[in-house]
Amino acid sequence: MMDTQVGIVGAGPAGLLLAHLLRLQGVESVVLEARDRAYVEARVRAGVLEQGTVDLLSEAGVGDRLHREGLVHQGLELRFDGRGHRIDLSELTGGRAITVYGQQEVVKDLIAARLDAGGELLFEVDGVTLHDLEGEAPTVRFRHEGSEEELRCAVVAGCDGFHGVCREAIPAGTLSVYEREYPFAWLGILAEVAPSSEELIYCYHERGFALHSMRSPRLTRLYLQCAPDDDVAEWPDDRIWDELRTRLATDDQWTLGEGPIVEKGITPMRSFVVEPLRFGRVFLAGDAAHIVPPTGAKGLNLAVADVRVLSEALGAWFAQGDSAGLDAYSETCLRRVWRVQHFSWWMTSMLHRFPGGDPFDGRLQRSQLRYVCSSRAAATTLAENYVGLELV
Ligand code: APR
Ligand code: PHB
Repeated sequence: MMDTQVGIVGAGPAGLLLAHLLRLQGVESVVLEARDRAYVEARVRAGVLEQGTVDLLSEAGVGDRLHREGLVHQGLELRFDGRGHRIDLSELTGGRAITVYGQQEVVKDLIAARLDAGGELLFEVDGVTLHDLEGEAPTVRFRHEGSEEELRCAVVAGCDGFHGVCREAIPAGTLSVYEREYPFAWLGILAEVAPSSEELIYCYHERGFALHSMRSPRLTRLYLQCAPDDDVAEWPDDRIWDELRTRLATDDQWTLGEGPIVEKGITPMRSFVVEPLRFGRVFLAGDAAHIVPPTGAKGLNLAVADVRVLSEALGAWFAQGDSAGLDAYSETCLRRVWRVQHFSWWMTSMLHRFPGGDPFDGRLQRSQLRYVCSSRAAATTLAENYVGLELV
């Protein structure tokens, strides 16, 4: 039997950052993670941090390595019909920028901070179940190192990702689900080669979307639109490079640097939201509550935005018994969630080839791309959403 103020299920960015922000306010928590530490720290995910995410991590004292190793980008490129068009993010947003820093690096920094502070973080727990969510003393039961444990807490934070158990623990019919699946997926690779461009390149092509990103001066991250049921076995390295070269080709001298592929994976694409983000004493945050397609680079940033709101609300509740923040949690977060859902859907729709789409669709997409690249108003819409809106 253990007791804590907040039981946090999941040690992804949402759970770990929540634990850290709570500790800064003097609120105790226990974090329960199904996987082992090495797995969580090695899992390659997205890598674009909004200005507000960087600012929050810095203020919370976990931004040192991020500032040393992160790559600050003030613009990005939209490429179509063999030409690149730069969107000057900083100039359009009063000096804001994004930072390229792998999600697993954020996770490593947060795990280190948690362990340094002597905070409770249990890896390899299994059989997590939630109980008494509508009462004043919810509990989390789980197995750890061969024994059955029960964690009594005042509040449970469901930060266990899309496939977690917390959302499922909420009685059927309580949550409304809003969902859209896309008829394509992303094949992502990490290659040991210097990036071929200093900034990200989002590329629209008849054969499908392609994205050039990076992790460091020696590591390039690249993505290709593929079919949702494709298997990585159907994508030998040569086929990947051929396809990337074709889609990213320009009319000028640009060439794509190639190197050994050290990571390869396929990610399905969906938009998903549950409402509300609360049931009794359980609060959902991050991917447990919502998923965006990766085209807007928003998944991690949205998880961070949720736990910022949740940590402040919990801080006020534990310190002063003030429940206003907790009562408003779902509504406050959902405003940003839906803004970001729209942006991610819009970027996805503008840049991907829809199987079965007719030439009319393609004409609309090109027109939209040309508009974004030629109108300051349209470019600002992309830029302010991409670097992250302060108010939503
Ligand atoms: N018990 C304990 N832990 C669990 C369970 C469970 N039943 N189910 C899942 N987990 C853990 C996962 O192993 C993972 O470490 O919860 C964690 C959830 O982390 P993420 O999936 O990274 O979700 P989140 O923290 O919300 O971060 C959102 O992750 O998927 C990306 O693009 C997404 O960038 C976004 C970010
Ligand atoms: C990445 O670098 O992994 C990345 C960048 C931009 C995106 C998605 C992923 O939109």
